[in-house]
Amino acid sequence: MTNPRRICLLPGDGIGPEITVEAVKVLDAIGALNDVTFSYDEALLGGIAIDATGSPLPDATLDAARAADAVLLAAIGGPKWDTTDPDKPRPEQGLLGIRKALGLFANLRPVKLFPALVGASSLKPEHLEGVDMLIVRELTGGIYFGERGRERDVPGAGADGGSGMRAYDTEVYAEYEIERIARIAFDAARTRRNKVHSVDKANVLESSRLWREVVHRVHDAEYSDVELVDQLVDNSAMQLVRWPAQFDVMVTGNIFGDILSDEASMLTGSLGMLASASLGDGTALYEPSHGSAPDIAGQGVANPLAMLLSVELMLRHSFEMHGAADTLSTAIENVLAEGWRTRDIADEGTPADRLVGTSEMGDLVVTQL
Ligand code: IPM
Ligand code: MG
Repeated sequence: MTNPRRICLLPGDGIGPEITVEAVKVLDAIGALNDVTFSYDEALLGGIAIDATGSPLPDATLDAARAADAVLLAAIGGPKWDTTDPDKPRPEQGLLGIRKALGLFANLRPVKLFPALVGASSLKPEHLEGVDMLIVRELTGGIYFGERGRERDVPGAGADGGSGMRAYDTEVYAEYEIERIARIAFDAARTRRNKVHSVDKANVLESSRLWREVVHRVHDAEYSDVELVDQLVDNSAMQLVRWPAQFDVMVTGNIFGDILSDEASMLTGSLGMLASASLGDGTALYEPSHGSAPDIAGQGVANPLAMLLSVELMLRHSFEMHGAADTLSTAIENVLAEGWRTRDIADEGTPADRLVGTSEMGDLVVTQL
């Protein structure tokens, strides 16, 4: 028996706690099969942390995350904490804060289509053939972290032509931030189909022109064996639904990656299928790309698969348990091939006795393991 792998669990809000239970269930099963012990340390993040401490990212949570070998985050946010008041805490500040504090600059979102789910996608099956892409989203820079604020009493800014308020956010990228995310993308491409689409808005934004320059510099100096294609973000949004199979690795900035990954998730049938790994220099964090789905929270119907696919990424990137990760991926594939569906990935053809809830889905995966 090796030392326990310490996992910091951040169940968060909404459906977060429900899908976390399934992740632990599956991790325990994988541990037993591989003679590995996973130990868990639960901490508060998001709305639940605001309620308990007033802060969306309490110091104790950061300490727990730093002390762990990996962090598994479920989801944060909900209508209870929605506010436009800049002086009130928001759950999202907890998520952005922990990404920044742990230096998690690279967010990997694999868009992998399980054959059994072709019918669940909003696209026609013929458009989905060959879809297998990796979105590499820069996660600690760009407009998410640039200077922002409100200016009061600005002449001419008011709705009536008088003085009023003005608000701004700033898209900023430094060369080093672009360089390091480009390397992650090119390295990933070399293990895949050797192609990178770099997505920007270089026809308008200065930050995108620097992005393009730096990506090409890194490419020409270190990765000329990898095919590099520049694409404007509006075009990418269209190409994702026109011909998604053209993409192997897509590298892009924080906000474009946020938007395009939600769009790309529908290729897989549901936002409930998209996992993510956030990597930096220290402890990595794993989280589904979906939100806390407050509309279905507590009902036991949420799809836990993006969470379980995030566990798969954790096994690979943090624990080098590639065999166990493959087994988990196959188990999920088999459960889907047998026709089991949570309601987000069900279609008209799904028989009522194959429609399952969150915990049954977790049990089915454990049985397959
Ligand atoms: C995501 C989410 C977050 C983001 C929100 C919840 C702050 O949409 O991980 O994609 O915008 O990064
Ligand atoms: Mg998002």
